Amino acid sequence: MNPYDPAADDDTDGTDRLVGPAADGEDQAVEAALRPKDLGEFVGQEKVRQQLDLVLRAARQRGATADHVLLSGAPGLGKTTLSMIIAAEMGAPIRITSGPAIQHAGDLAAILSSLQEGEVLFLDEIHRMSRPAEEMLYMAMEDFRVDVIVGKGPGATAIPLELPPFTLVGATTRAGLLPPPLRDRFGFTGHMEFYAPAELERVIHRSAGLLDVVIDPVGAAEIAGRSRGTPRIANRLLRRVRDYAQVRADGRITREVAAGALEVYEVDARGLDRLDRAVLDALLRLFNGGPVGLSTLAVAVGEERETVEEVAEPFLVREGLLARTPRGRVATPAAWTHLGLTPPAAAPARAQQGLFGP
Ligand SMILES: Nc1ncnc2c1ncn2[C@@H]1O[C@H](COP(=O)(O)OP(=O)(O)O)[C@@H](O)[C@H]1O
Ligand SMILES: [Mg+2]
Repeated sequence: MNPYDPAADDDTDGTDRLVGPAADGEDQAVEAALRPKDLGEFVGQEKVRQQLDLVLRAARQRGATADHVLLSGAPGLGKTTLSMIIAAEMGAPIRITSGPAIQHAGDLAAILSSLQEGEVLFLDEIHRMSRPAEEMLYMAMEDFRVDVIVGKGPGATAIPLELPPFTLVGATTRAGLLPPPLRDRFGFTGHMEFYAPAELERVIHRSAGLLDVVIDPVGAAEIAGRSRGTPRIANRLLRRVRDYAQVRADGRITREVAAGALEVYEVDARGLDRLDRAVLDALLRLFNGGPVGLSTLAVAVGEERETVEEVAEPFLVREGLLARTPRGRVATPAAWTHLGLTPPAAAPARAQQGLFGP
């Protein structure tokens, strides 16, 4: 099946891509085994790791519950993993839920009132919680108290309920969407960054060890370079390369094996997949590098607007291959180089115009 055949693919969130950042079913099954268990095992994110280490150590020394922690960053960078590490480091149990799962304040009240003292409550996608639940959370975070509403209409009464001290760990891919009063109630906010290739190599070596796969350093580097700065993608590519190594080679992952496998799966040296390249290719060959409107570009690659805009473009923009300008999408000189094409003489000037002009 062609994953980018619009007829076969009716969702546009890109969850079926090999280089998509969201967890698919297989990821979820394997990730538990690959998650680092403590801060020492957690690769990279030096700043967040050090800051969090201080927060947790200090709380432990005081014999107190750790401050509420907000983790923000793109999918697959380790937010869920860190929340579990926080609980492990505090020797506390963890309860896992998510914003979309809490639609009524009552759902949240039920969870909060059943927490044990010191427990970590992990609220994934916290920006997607309903308004009433959010307001209940303010009071719970600040005063460890909720008002449970009993009855309906004019006769309804609020019964205050004391909560044991707990640590809320919120995770969000969109920190900007959090209302300031909620953001302000976190004692510590960790911003997760994309990982450097060397860090991803460490993630890959670690995972290979856990999966019992032999991999040499250049093999790991080859996979790391195609993983889009994201450990989840690195682990997923590693599993596909392992299959290839087993079937087409002697099981060991070398540079040639990694490159050969990822060629089969159409993930190129920079981590672009077929959809990404189709978008760039159309932009360069059909529209001479742009500017071209999103709708036109989408039609040219036979995709929905949303797919091009939300699935392909963010990474292309991040990689400096494509720019979104008021006049339309524009390829950068790096895009021509990446696809091995020669830019027309006027292309750099046009790109500049598109980038800086109205
Ligand atoms: N810093 C890290 N070191 C090692 N592995 C990591 C790291 N961050 C993430 N991972 C791996 O990537 C996978 C996805 O991480 P996860 O915490 O689920 O990301 P998020 O919740 O931000 O989407 C995990 O299974 C874990 O194995
Ligand atoms: Mg997660």
